[in-house]
Amino acid sequence: MRNCETCPAPIIELDINHLMSDMLGEKHGLNRSQIDKHSDAAVKAFENIQANRGSGWLGWMQLHINQDDVVEDILLTADSIRKDFKTFVLLGIGGSALGPIAVHQALNHLHFNELSDEKRKSPRFYVEDNVDPERMQALLDVIDLRTTCFNIITKSGATAETMSQYLIVSEALKKEIGKGWQKHIIATTDKEKGNLIKLAKKEGFKTFYIPSTVGGRFSQLSPVGLLAAAVCGIDIRSMLGGASCMDQTCCSSDIWKNPALLEAVVQFVLMQEMGINIHVMMPYADSLKYMADWFSQLWAESLGKNITRKGVPINVGQTPVKALGVTDQHSQLQLYTEGPFDKVITFLKVEKFRSKTVIPHGCEEFEDVAFLGGKSHNELIEAERIGTEYALLRAGRMSQTITLPVVNAHTIGQLIYFFELVTAYTGELLDIDAFNQPGVEESKIASYAVLGNTAEKYQKKQDEMTDSPSEKEQYIL
Ligand code: PA5
Repeated sequence: MRNCETCPAPIIELDINHLMSDMLGEKHGLNRSQIDKHSDAAVKAFENIQANRGSGWLGWMQLHINQDDVVEDILLTADSIRKDFKTFVLLGIGGSALGPIAVHQALNHLHFNELSDEKRKSPRFYVEDNVDPERMQALLDVIDLRTTCFNIITKSGATAETMSQYLIVSEALKKEIGKGWQKHIIATTDKEKGNLIKLAKKEGFKTFYIPSTVGGRFSQLSPVGLLAAAVCGIDIRSMLGGASCMDQTCCSSDIWKNPALLEAVVQFVLMQEMGINIHVMMPYADSLKYMADWFSQLWAESLGKNITRKGVPINVGQTPVKALGVTDQHSQLQLYTEGPFDKVITFLKVEKFRSKTVIPHGCEEFEDVAFLGGKSHNELIEAERIGTEYALLRAGRMSQTITLPVVNAHTIGQLIYFFELVTAYTGELLDIDAFNQPGVEESKIASYAVLGNTAEKYQKKQDEMTDSPSEKEQYIL
């Protein structure tokens, strides 16, 4: 296991052996020359990203550098939330929720909310990232508004799902608390744009800002993710330190010295030259389960684009698929080993788990059970990952492994920054805008039109939708 070059922290590692023709053979594997031929493009991608870091949509590259005051404020606020409240609820969607969910799962106890108050030492934590009416009701059934703090997160300050949640909880708080209900709300949003900042100013909510240069899916290391993490007792300075180490590790324009750049070039070659258009993210650790969800949004929303930056039609992007090892060996693996040759599997491996579960001896009369005795779940989960990697190799299927020495705030900070860099470099190689999401906007406008929003653009959309071909009875059974 390698350490960071600037501090003693162990660093996560990318292993692409199981993608290469040296192991997979010429027919299904990747040649080093297929990677090397993109070295000039990689240098250009690296230099473009470096030259613009901190500006445009690359503000996320500076979050581990320029947030000292913000971190101070977050830690003070988190301390008072921990003292004053028993429950902390995050209301947001997409990039305003997936990072906090992934970090909560990775770094908090896996049954955090069920721990006793003494053991948990923090408020119970919920993230509500949908508008399913049963889910909202279920939340209200289990929380006590008098001891609950809500963090409303929306970068645009306008997202209907989040603003509808705001309307529901603010109304409920006004009824239950009356005077002083505003102390139960923290707003995280853009400093100037959107409705939430206006509301925050009017009501006097404590507010954190998402820098204008940081897009939703790149915002985990901003107050979007840091406040919830700090409230739960996660060492947010260490998480930012991890991002800083990854920044250092990826400071070369040489593909073979910069793991994020190597990964970007590899994925570029896989999707553009080898027809590998599905990317399965398969952590072998429950703690990393929602990292796959966070990655899926980052990868899908950033790279799924239909034109280049020059407006040339392109229709690119790998479809991300979430899987969990070993659980999904028993549901999806059959397809991965024998289905179409259109997938790459990324394993997230944990070198040292935070617990050890020893399997007792027993069932000596059954050889297939008895052999497990004296081993541990730690050994079993890794043996199963190796077994899956081998089965894929035998079947000529590509896989790669990212190893976390241990799951802690530092390595999670590294992992987040690593994937953000990979995504940004890949966007450069594809020559697309990795930071917009016009395809999402279309669905937003259409749904507001359906709900009867009277603003002009929604009215126009309503007319357009009325003109679209009508559904036929014969196709509905
Ligand atoms: O990555 C993105 O920009 C999106 O997924 C947004 O995070 C999502 O649409 C929510 O937007 P907002 O934070 O403005 O409510």
